Amino acid sequence: MTNPHTAEITVTVNGAEQTLTVRHHWSLLDVLREALGLTGAKRGCDRGECGSCTVLLDRTPVNACQVLAIRADGHDVLTVEGLAPAGELSPLQQAFLDEDGGQCGFCTPGFVMATRALLDGNPSPTDAEIREALSGNLCRCNAYGRILASVRAAAACAS
Ligand code: FES
Ligand code: FES
Repeated sequence: MTNPHTAEITVTVNGAEQTLTVRHHWSLLDVLREALGLTGAKRGCDRGECGSCTVLLDRTPVNACQVLAIRADGHDVLTVEGLAPAGELSPLQQAFLDEDGGQCGFCTPGFVMATRALLDGNPSPTDAEIREALSGNLCRCNAYGRILASVRAAAACAS
């Protein structure tokens, strides 16, 4: 008998197709963290205010806590784990490390993913464009100056 509260979805996560049974109210963040064990996207506020859960849905940054998992059916999701599948840091992650772009690091995956989306569309952003692109991401440690430096460095090594 089919369960009226669940649905089967097929989603490509970090290049691998996954078929999962999800409850209708589960968020994409629930599925990534609880069902798939991808804990890079962080649950900060769980209400769309902090950006620590940022992932790319069809290359667009979204707050995974605010996207129903069933909405991801048939779509492509990139998480921070997918940036460096070989276990080494991507140049973007390395730039955050080199420039000390975080303190506790809780917000860092979200900033990294928002930066990835920014640089995909605009490889040489101005500081104003960086601030605008990252305006949905909050850092409780107030590391914004180092984060800005990290994005500048990532852009420089990508160009
Ligand atoms: S946990 Fe999703 S926006 Fe804060
Ligand atoms: S480095 Fe701690 S929240 Fe940003």
